[in-house]
Amino acid sequence: MLSFDLPYFDQIIERLEGDPDSVLAEAFRRHVHWGCFEDPAGADDSLGSYMAAAENLTRRISGAGRTGEGTAVLDVGCGFGGTIAHLNETLEGRELTGLNIDGRQLARARELVRAVSGNTVDFVEGDACELPFEDARFDVVLAVECIFHFPSRKQFFREAARVLRPGGRLALSDFVLAPGALEPYVAWTKSGEISESEFYGTNKVPVTSAAYERVARGSGLEVLLDEDITPNTLPTYPAMRRLYREAGLPDGEQATTFLEEVARRGWVQYRILSFAKPAG
Ligand SMILES: C[S@@+](CC[C@H](N)C(=O)[O-])C[C@H]1O[C@@H](n2cnc3c(N)ncnc32)[C@H](O)[C@@H]1O
Repeated sequence: MLSFDLPYFDQIIERLEGDPDSVLAEAFRRHVHWGCFEDPAGADDSLGSYMAAAENLTRRISGAGRTGEGTAVLDVGCGFGGTIAHLNETLEGRELTGLNIDGRQLARARELVRAVSGNTVDFVEGDACELPFEDARFDVVLAVECIFHFPSRKQFFREAARVLRPGGRLALSDFVLAPGALEPYVAWTKSGEISESEFYGTNKVPVTSAAYERVARGSGLEVLLDEDITPNTLPTYPAMRRLYREAGLPDGEQATTFLEEVARRGWVQYRILSFAKPAG
């Protein structure tokens, strides 16, 4: 039995099941991740803007992994299957696999995604740090906004490198620590100015881009891309707060306020990173 601690998913799933016509159910029907707003200055906190931006984030990470060039794609930490749905709608003749530690999310994903255009779609229960696949099985591995939940970033990289074919790519997004930010970030967190609610679970401490490069190199991967998209994600925060307020989830509002503050102070950046396994 796999164990996990995802309080926000417990609450979201409870609301989705209890009130499938609610705004929250609509917002998280496909994706449960931040939005990437192409015009952040002109963005508002509406549901429509957020959902378009959430889809756009998927598009950007899929582009970073060059999914269009691969046959077999694995989406680790696949949530309700939104990224697999996006790939299924935009690619043809691909083998698309989503993996998640939470069987409840996989049940929704299987409902959401029906394979089209000669694609195959499979959803598998498992842990990102013990991938249940043979070596060199995939051309692309994606991990959209989930690596901070995994038991170990290093072990996930080892596993991703193992299941990638030579020439394959890993692409992900994460909350990345800015250089020199650890001390002020930790001091401010301890000050309790805004207390860190447990809504998003107990997560790994953010690491820097330099640490990512070291972990990648240690797993035999090379950095292809490391892009700071923080400004494009900032409109997510008011949109998320409004959603949680309307859904009666004050913990969600507070946890989002905390994350917004560390982003606006420049300590934690939202980055898209991609890596290549050398062709051999
Ligand atoms: C913020 S959600 C992102 C979901 C999805 N990638 C998306 O973008 O909509 C984080 C996801 O990581 C998954 N997760 C957490 N720990 C995991 C683990 N050890 N192995 C696989 N998935 C995990 C959660 O169940 C959840 O679906």
